[in-house]
Amino acid sequence: MPASVHPSAAPFVPSEHSLPVLQSAVQACQGCDLYRHATQAVFGEVEATLATRAAKIDLMLIGEQPGDHEDKEGHPFVGPAGRLLDECLEEAGIDRRKVYVTNTVKHFKWEPRGKLRLHKKPSMQEIRACRPWLDAEVEAVEPRLIVCLGATAAQSLLGPKFRITQAHGKLESAKHLPPVLATLHPSAILRARTHEDRERDRRIFVDDLRRAMAFVHRSDKK
Ligand code: URA
Repeated sequence: MPASVHPSAAPFVPSEHSLPVLQSAVQACQGCDLYRHATQAVFGEVEATLATRAAKIDLMLIGEQPGDHEDKEGHPFVGPAGRLLDECLEEAGIDRRKVYVTNTVKHFKWEPRGKLRLHKKPSMQEIRACRPWLDAEVEAVEPRLIVCLGATAAQSLLGPKFRITQAHGKLESAKHLPPVLATLHPSAILRARTHEDRERDRRIFVDDLRRAMAFVHRSDKK
């Protein structure tokens, strides 16, 4: 069967699941076709000084895929959605430098619109193809809690029937994973049609982040 029928990153994921090894190996990934039109793969990261001190990472945040800025700069959540994420993390009392931030899909999927590269939602097949990288990251990071930002991450980990609108902010369990909590995606908040909608969604997002942190603090005391 040709590889493209069931694309998968699995043959590209090294058996050693340490972050530096994974981070360098992901650049060679051709597990699906998305690498063809992306500048580079964008892997997850946590501030290096903390990682090298081997500090335990409490939270792993998972977005959808790198956007235009992330694709050029090679880091997750550094564009407008990343700025909103930073603000909301701060509001929720969470230090981004201690959080591992990554994406469900590691290459930017886009379509041309004039001179712009417009974000295109990854397909279920591309999401599945990229899952071995996410599993390797979870194994390397061992977070206490995974926070899915938006439907793509949530459906990848919790199944295609999962609905953020109905189940955000609740603790969920998934096979072979730490507890998972899903919430809104910062880009969805930025896209809200009115100022009121944006403010409401932002409050929901910050409250969910606070819930995530409360869970981490509770599990700290056990
Ligand atoms: N949106 C995402 O889901 N991830 C990023 O890294 C940037 C925007």
